[in-house]
Amino acid sequence: MNGPQVGHDPLKIGHVIAVEGDTVEVQIGIEDLLLEYHGTTYRVGRLGTYVTIPLERCTLIGYVTRIGAAGELQPGPYPEAPTRITMSVQLLGTVRNDKFTRGVNEYPTLGDPVRLGVDEDFELIFGCFDELAAAGAGSHRKSFAMGRFAVDTDFEVKVLGKEFFAKHVAVMGNSGSGKSCTTAKIVHEALRLPHAQVVMFDMHGEYLSAFSGDDGRPLPNVTYLSDRNLVMPYWMLQYEEFEQLFLDTNNPINVNAQKIFLRAAFEKLKRAAAVDLGLVTEYTIDTPLYYAIEDLKTYADNMNEARFVLNTQNYAFARLPFRQLPTDEQEAMLLSRRMEFNKGNAEGEVPHATFFGKLLGMVNQLETRLNDRRYDFMLRPFEQAHRNADLSARFRREGTPGRLSRNVSMVMSQILGRTNPRRNLTIIDLSGLPFDVVDTTVAVLTRAIFDFNFWSPPEVRQPTLIVYEEAHNYLPRVAKPGRRTFSRDAVEKVAKEGRKYGVSAMVVSQRPSELSETVLSQCNSMVLMRMNNPDDQDYAARVVSDQFRSLINLLPSMRPGEGFIIGDAVLMPMRTLIDLPPRLPRSSDVDFFKMWSQGVPGGDPEQILDRWWRQDRSSARRNANGEREFTRATDPHQAPAFVPEPEILGGAARGADAVADASRPRSLSGAERKLADLAALLAEPPASE
Ligand SMILES: Nc1ncnc2c1ncn2[C@@H]1O[C@H](COP(=O)(O)OP(=O)(O)OP(=O)(O)O)[C@@H](O)[C@H]1O
Ligand SMILES: [Mg+2]
Repeated sequence: MNGPQVGHDPLKIGHVIAVEGDTVEVQIGIEDLLLEYHGTTYRVGRLGTYVTIPLERCTLIGYVTRIGAAGELQPGPYPEAPTRITMSVQLLGTVRNDKFTRGVNEYPTLGDPVRLGVDEDFELIFGCFDELAAAGAGSHRKSFAMGRFAVDTDFEVKVLGKEFFAKHVAVMGNSGSGKSCTTAKIVHEALRLPHAQVVMFDMHGEYLSAFSGDDGRPLPNVTYLSDRNLVMPYWMLQYEEFEQLFLDTNNPINVNAQKIFLRAAFEKLKRAAAVDLGLVTEYTIDTPLYYAIEDLKTYADNMNEARFVLNTQNYAFARLPFRQLPTDEQEAMLLSRRMEFNKGNAEGEVPHATFFGKLLGMVNQLETRLNDRRYDFMLRPFEQAHRNADLSARFRREGTPGRLSRNVSMVMSQILGRTNPRRNLTIIDLSGLPFDVVDTTVAVLTRAIFDFNFWSPPEVRQPTLIVYEEAHNYLPRVAKPGRRTFSRDAVEKVAKEGRKYGVSAMVVSQRPSELSETVLSQCNSMVLMRMNNPDDQDYAARVVSDQFRSLINLLPSMRPGEGFIIGDAVLMPMRTLIDLPPRLPRSSDVDFFKMWSQGVPGGDPEQILDRWWRQDRSSARRNANGEREFTRATDPHQAPAFVPEPEILGGAARGADAVADASRPRSLSGAERKLADLAALLAEPPASE
């Protein structure tokens, strides 16, 4: 770094005319805004470029946030150059004894010279950072490369791993600004460490392509879970999450009855597992204890029709001997088998005051979802586990309720990569899930990961990064009317407390202004990419620290893949051309023009309708020529119409495809499918108590 110069200073571009906080106003003293230095011509005053201000004992570094003209302009169509050009500079750091440190504690005054930041300055700054990044080297890596310095691409921008990952990360920018590529690049860098642990919520199914081999299958250290093979048993849901999904709110008169029923039902249904596990006094309706969802439906069906014998506590069952049974035996029957009630008035039967006729909506919701393939991951976990190679051999409906409750540990082991061999990244592809369940899924799994680390002894705790793509969809700033925000609550908890327990969040969003402020304001590291929307800019300006606020003005000018990296992980805000990852996420952009000019084969409408009914969004299979193929499925002897490609099922699931397909033949009608499901259920070995 050149110290204060006497006489002509070739890099001097102006002098200080005002200082306000960390912002300095500079009057530019060179006429055509061009500066020749060591054979290179620099344009002075470009936004985002850097300047230095030499003081007595140190040199300040700042970047240009505004440039403008003031003074007399000549009237007429061809005004002469303005008489005074000024620019604003945001101070970022100080160089003292050839060491760069963040922040400023000595300020310039009027008339101090201002110089253009050039290679030598950057060399010093990047050199200091390299020293920091290499400190204690030999033991382990301290930093990773993000890309090239946009102002001078000779320099590589590195990021301190500890600071970056431990303090939550936000990647924000317009659609198409390069967030997904940046996210893939960051995760790719994390995966270079042998014990990295990343769980990714992928809204649009974009990331498998970034973490798969040439054959489209997930890399060996990647678990890919989608609606086809993710297992998240319904008993992991907390009471309110369950309530939100299954309560029928169409008729307000029935809502209360359903709530009372559900609470009472959970209390009763979870009791068996609680007894098994010795949790009788500890368990609540939120404790993730196994119960059979079929029993819940049976109980609801029964209570919806329940009647009592007049002036007694006895249920008025149609079969007279059942009426005489003690209440607890009657209750046990109601929980486990479909009962018939006397509909006449033989003994003066009275309908159940709270439940009678009020539970039908909820029963229908339950039934509809039990029959909807897209909910299998949650409501039919044992069947779904057939499609999941890690779980298929062990996650079975066998054993006591206590044993079945413990199955959750297998789910957690898979999500946290504790598989054999160990895996470092779990992609949870939410694109095939019904939208109403995305929020719940993110909430349940986030909470599970947090709780898992919270209850782990510190010496065995595995630091985990959770990536939330398109986070504004499920971490909203303002909740939709009538909707709870379970995932927001869970992620806010991670944002506030996760650091202590080794859980870090990375939120990726194109609409920061619609994103939870609590989550965003806890993000210490940010990658700010092109951002044009004023609401988003204002909001981003609110959540970044004062020092970086002026930088927001520069965001509309960024190119795709260009971002400001700010936070403790870098020495100063680094305008960076972010490197592309080795394999790109699948872009959701549709090239209309190309497809319209080259043509697409187009699907068979009957096949598409069939997929629609079956809620199957997997790819069509390829024929010998590698072309996607749509096979008619009307002939039962023919192969299933759509064989999910490995890219859809994921490596973990391939071995189990045949089992999955056998349990739910593709070409059956809805009614036949239900029968087949029933047969499969009956064929399951009975749970041994
Ligand atoms: N680092 C980069 N270098 C060069 N080009 C890039 C870079 N990152 C992204 N791009 C280009 O921008 C396009 C969009 O990138 P990407 O899909 O990551 O954007 P996005 O912000 O995630 O968009 P969306 O909000 O729609 O998901 C890419 O297809 C690529 O062509
Ligand atoms: Mg994206």
